[in-house]
Amino acid sequence: MQAPHTVTVALTGASGLPYGLRLIDQLVAAEIRVWVLYSQAAQVVAKQEMDLHLPSRPSEVQQWLQQRTGAKTGQLAVFGREEWFAPVASGSNPADAMVVCPCSMGTLAAIAHGMSDNLIERAADVSIKEGRKLILVPRETPFSVIHLENMLKLARLGVVILPPSPGFYTHPASVDDIVDFVVARILDQLRIPNSLMPRWGDTPKE
Ligand SMILES: Cc1cc2nc3c(=O)[nH]c(=O)nc-3n(C[C@H](O)[C@H](O)[C@H](O)COP(=O)(O)O)c2cc1C
Repeated sequence: MQAPHTVTVALTGASGLPYGLRLIDQLVAAEIRVWVLYSQAAQVVAKQEMDLHLPSRPSEVQQWLQQRTGAKTGQLAVFGREEWFAPVASGSNPADAMVVCPCSMGTLAAIAHGMSDNLIERAADVSIKEGRKLILVPRETPFSVIHLENMLKLARLGVVILPPSPGFYTHPASVDDIVDFVVARILDQLRIPNSLMPRWGDTPKE
């Protein structure tokens, strides 16, 4: 897979919104076109874990993200839960790749069962049927058999299951370092060059 031109990022109501926002920042900085989707539960979690007010209107979230990331006009678009005329809703115009980050167990289950009940689920369903790269960043602990079976089913379909499991061998000094560890792994999966983390084996031995 070459580096994508367009990536869809879906924010759902699992803990870990900082991963999703940092990912969007990095994609914009890499001059990728970004389409953003977010669930109602993501708004609740944003308030709880980041004290962040994510407005219900996609146009307001778009304006906020545009300011936050410095995205160029037309580089970033935010779509609503039932915006069925959004490009991601159709196999005729999907993004090159999609990342659900963080991914709740509810959305994971819905994707595993092809529910397509909202734009996030539909866009993921389209990604699978069109053979586009789909990365899920599932967050729950411990995982139940239901969660694990859903993940196994998706992994067998070629979906990348990328849990936010930071390594500590890089000696993270801050929460930002831990977030970057996970975001670097996602960018690697997307083949987007990044230097968020030192590469294993690149550091000369003393
Ligand atoms: C503060 C907070 C943290 C949550 N953390 C998680 C989580 O880590 N994983 C998860 O699967 N659900 C979590 N939930 C529950 C989901 O938000 C809930 O199941 C919701 O229906 C998911 O909807 P969505 O998939 O449409 O975003 C959390 C909810 C709240 C309010």
